[in-house]
Amino acid sequence: MTRPTPVPDAPWWQGAVVYQIYPRSFADSDGNGIGDLPGIIGRLDHLAGAEGALGVDAVWLSPFYPSPMADFGYDVADYTDVDPLFGSLADADRLIAEAHRRGLRVLIDWVPNHTSDRHPWFTASRSSRDDPKRDWYVWRDGAADGGPPNAWRSTFDREREGSAWTHDPATDQWYLHTFAVQQPDLNWANPEVEAAMLDTLRFWLDRGVDGFRIDVVQCLGTEVDRPAGAEAWPLDQDWPRGREIMRRVRAVLEEYDERVAVGEVYVLDQRRLASFLVEGDGLHMAHNFVFLRTSWSAEAFRRVITEFERLAPPPAWSTWCLSNHDHSRVATRYGGDGRGPERARVAATMLLTLRGTAFLFQGEELGLPDADIPPEAVVDLDGRDPERAPIPWEPPSAAGPGAGFTTGTPWLPLVDEAESLAASVQEDDPRSPLALYRRLIDLRAATPALRRGGQRMLDAGPDVLAYRREGAGETWLVALNFASRQRRPDLSGVGVADGTLVLSTDPARREGPLDLAGLRLGPDEGVLIRLGAPGPSDQGPAPARR
Ligand code: NOJ
Repeated sequence: MTRPTPVPDAPWWQGAVVYQIYPRSFADSDGNGIGDLPGIIGRLDHLAGAEGALGVDAVWLSPFYPSPMADFGYDVADYTDVDPLFGSLADADRLIAEAHRRGLRVLIDWVPNHTSDRHPWFTASRSSRDDPKRDWYVWRDGAADGGPPNAWRSTFDREREGSAWTHDPATDQWYLHTFAVQQPDLNWANPEVEAAMLDTLRFWLDRGVDGFRIDVVQCLGTEVDRPAGAEAWPLDQDWPRGREIMRRVRAVLEEYDERVAVGEVYVLDQRRLASFLVEGDGLHMAHNFVFLRTSWSAEAFRRVITEFERLAPPPAWSTWCLSNHDHSRVATRYGGDGRGPERARVAATMLLTLRGTAFLFQGEELGLPDADIPPEAVVDLDGRDPERAPIPWEPPSAAGPGAGFTTGTPWLPLVDEAESLAASVQEDDPRSPLALYRRLIDLRAATPALRRGGQRMLDAGPDVLAYRREGAGETWLVALNFASRQRRPDLSGVGVADGTLVLSTDPARREGPLDLAGLRLGPDEGVLIRLGAPGPSDQGPAPARR
C-alpha cells in the first residue's frame, strides 16, 4: 500500500485544505444518475496531481457504505463494505490508491451514533428481548400513560414534533432514534458495541484511509435515564461520555501513523466545542458550526474567530468550514440581495487564509448556488436537496442535460446556472470562481505564513475583517470588505506603510505595489497583501502555478 510522503515539520492535516465529496452528486460512471466511486476516480485530476488541479491536500467522502438510503447513506447497514450503487470494495481500494498516487489523503465518514434499522445488529436486537444484541441499541419501556419513555423529539421531525422513540410491537418496547425512524441509536454504554465499532475503524485504517470525519459526536454517550435528560433535546446534548469515546477512537488511530479524526460536533457554543480539542487526546479537529452559521458581518466573524482562538489554545487546532451537504451554499446563504457571487469570493478568501485547516464542500470552488428543487423532485427528508445538486462538469449545451455528471437522468436537478458555471467553462477563465480558488490554494501551499503561520486580528474599522499572517520572515495582510459599498480600511495598526497587492477577489483590480494608507476596498472585495517594501519580482505578473 503506497502512502503519501510525510510532512516533516508538522502533522499533514494542520493547514491542509480538505475537499468534501458527496459521492451521490460528484460524478456518475455508469449512467444510472447517481454518482459513484469509479466516477470519483475519473475526476481526481480536478482535485490534485494534474496540471490545473485545484491543489487540495485531502478529500473527505460522505458515506458510501451499504445503506437503504433513508438518509442517503447516513443510515449504514454494513460499516465494512460499499453499497453496490457506489461500486465495490475493490473500487474503494482503487480510489484510495489513486488518491495517494496524487498526494491526496483520504478521510471517510464514520457514523457511530446510529445504524440503519436494516443493519443485522438491529435486526437481531429487535428480534427478542433476550437476544444477545438486545442491549446494543437503546430500548426502554413506554411511559405509564402508554406513550414514549420521555419527551425527546427526533431531529428530523422537529416541526412535526415527532418523538425520538418508536414503539416496536414485536417486543412491546421503544427504541431511541435521534434522527429518522430508520436510524436507531447504538448503545455506546455497552462495551461490545464499542469494540465492534472500533473494529470498523481498523478495517478502513488497514485499507489505507488517512482518517475519519465522525458524524454527530455530540450525540454519543446518551444518558437516557439521567433525570435532567428527559426534558432535554438529544441533538443539542453533549454527553460527558462523548469525550471518553473520542479518546478511545484516538487510541485506535494512534495504532497507525499520521491518521486523523475530525468530529462533526454540532454544538453552538465554542467553549464546549473547544473542550473536545484542548486536552489533545481525542479529536484532532472539530467542525465549527458557530462559524458556519455566522451572519454576513465582519464584526460577527471577528468575534467568532477571536473567541475560538482564545478558547482553543494548542494543542487544539482551528478548523474552518462554511458549507457542507447539510447547509445552504455560501453563494445562496449570503446572497439574499443579489451579491452572492461577490460574497462567495470574499468568503473563499477568508476560508483559505485563516489560520487553521480549511474544509471545502464540492462545488463551492465553482461558485454554485443552491439548486431550485421543484416539489415533485424533493427526495430528502430534511430539505437538504438544494445544496446536494450534482456537479456540472460540462455545459449542458455540449454534454446534454446531465452536464457531464451523468449520461442518464440525474437523481436531483442540476443548478439552473450549469451552463455558465460548469467546471470546463471556468477552466480557462482567469476571472472565474475556479481560478480564484486555484490561486488561493496555490498561494496558501507556497506561503508558510499563510499555511501555518501566526495570526493576529486587526481593528480596521467598520465592515472590514482584517488580519495579519506571519511566518518564514514574511508578513501578509488579509483585508475583507463585508459591505456592498466601498470602504477605506484603517490600516494604521499594521505598522508598515507599503505592501504588494498579490490577490484581489475583484478580477479588475491591478496587482502590484501599493501604499497601504491609500487602500480603498471595493464593494464586497477582499485582498491579500504581502507587507513590506516591494522587491523587484513584485512588479511582475502573478506567481505561476506550481
Ligand atoms: C449529520 C450528517 O451530516 C447528516 O447528513 C445526517 O443526516 C445526520 N448527521 C445523521 O447521520
